[in-house]
Amino acid sequence: MKLFSIFGNPVSHSISPIMHNLALNALHINGCYIKTQLEDGSKIIDKFNALKLNGANVTVPHKEFAYELCDELDEFAKDIGAVNTLVKKGNKIVGYNTDAPGFYKAISSFEKIKSVLILGAGGTAKAIASILQKNALHVEVLNRSEKRLDWFYKNNFAAYNWDTFKIKNYDLIINTTSAGLRDNLLPIDELILNQLMKESRYAFEVIYNKTTPFLKLATKNGLTHKDGSDMLLYQGVLAFNLFFENKFDEKEITTHMKGAFDLRY
Ligand SMILES: NC(=O)c1ccc[n+]([C@@H]2O[C@H](COP(=O)([O-])OP(=O)(O)OC[C@H]3O[C@@H](n4cnc5c(N)ncnc54)[C@H](OP(=O)(O)O)[C@@H]3O)[C@@H](O)[C@H]2O)c1
Repeated sequence: MKLFSIFGNPVSHSISPIMHNLALNALHINGCYIKTQLEDGSKIIDKFNALKLNGANVTVPHKEFAYELCDELDEFAKDIGAVNTLVKKGNKIVGYNTDAPGFYKAISSFEKIKSVLILGAGGTAKAIASILQKNALHVEVLNRSEKRLDWFYKNNFAAYNWDTFKIKNYDLIINTTSAGLRDNLLPIDELILNQLMKESRYAFEVIYNKTTPFLKLATKNGLTHKDGSDMLLYQGVLAFNLFFENKFDEKEITTHMKGAFDLRY
C-alpha cells in the first residue's frame, strides 16, 4: 500500500487528506493519505522516512524546512526557496512547488492581465511572483514591512513597503497576506486599497472558505474576483500527479478532488 501525508502546524483544518483520498479511491489505487501534525520542521525528513511515505505535502510553517532538507530540488522550487510537495524517488526525496502552477491555473479565466500588484511578501507571494514573472507579466510587490523584500529586489521585482509605495494602476491585485485569515483586517489601508481597486479589473485572495474583508471590498468595487479554493484544488491535483509520475489525466483527478469541497463546506 502507498502512504502519503500532509505535514503542517496546525494541520487539523487541512482538506488535503479528503481531496487525495477521494482521488486514490476513485482511481482504485491501494493507498491512503493522512495528516501529520509536526511541531519541529527540522524533523520533516526523519518523520517522512519513519512513516515510510511515498509522498507528502507541506503546509505552513514548514515549506522552507522541506526546501532545505530534501535530497533534490525541482528547478522551479529551487528558484522560489519553498517546497510544498515531497516525492520519494528510489532512495531520494525530491522537492517540488505546486502552489505556483496551481495559482496560475486558478487565474486562467482572467483575461488580458499585464500588470499585477501582490500584497504581502511571504512564501506564497514569492511562488506567485515567480510564476507570473516567468509568464512575462509585470509584477510589483507591496508589503507591510521591509524585512522580507530583499528576495524580491534580488529577483528584479519592483517592491515597496507601506511607506515607500505610491498608487498606480494594476490589472490584478492579489492578497497573499494572512490579514483576514483569523481576523477581519484588510491587508493595507482601506483608502489606498479602494483607490487601487477602482483602477483594477481583477482581485484574487489566497485565503479560501472565507469572505475576507479584501474580497468584500473587491465585490464593492465591482471587480471580478476569486478566493483560494481553486488554487488549493489545483496544487493538490498537480501534487497527486507528481506522486504517480504524471500518469493520470489532470481533468479526471480534478473531478475527483472537487468532491472534497462539497463534503467540507
Ligand atoms: N489557497 C491556497 O492553496 C494557499 C496556498 C498557500 C498559502 N495560502 C495562504 O496564504 C497565506 C500566506 O501564507 P504564507 O505562507 O505566504 O505566509 P507567510 O510566509 O507567513 O507571509 C505572511 C505575509 O503576510 C503579511 N501579513 C501578515 N499579517 C498581516 C497584516 N495584519 N497586515 C498586513 N500584512 C500582514 C506579512 O507581512 P510582514 O512581512 O510585514 O510580517 C507577510 O508578508 C495564508 O493565509 C495561507 O493560508 C493559501
